[in-house]
Amino acid sequence: MSEKNKKQKITFKPSGLSYMADTGMTIFEIANKLDIAIRSECGGKGFCGKCKVLAEPDSNLSPVSEAELNLIGSEEIAKGFRLACQKQI
Ligand code: FES
Repeated sequence: MSEKNKKQKITFKPSGLSYMADTGMTIFEIANKLDIAIRSECGGKGFCGKCKVLAEPDSNLSPVSEAELNLIGSEEIAKGFRLACQKQI
């Protein structure tokens, strides 16, 4: 299996629901698969900043995007917060 087709188990708290997600899926997309509601006012386009989530660990996620820097800031990013619509596994 190539890195591109690798799957990762993603678990949401506090529900404990898990999903084997394909590389490239966003946290927002994975939550939708599990019918977990994540707030959004821009439909997942990276404009509203309402989909902020705490991602633990964040080491397997895509690099911090410009939208995340602008909408949640480096201090919250350092604490592990990310935008669910911007973060790919
Ligand atoms: S849903 Fe609007 S920034 Fe993520």
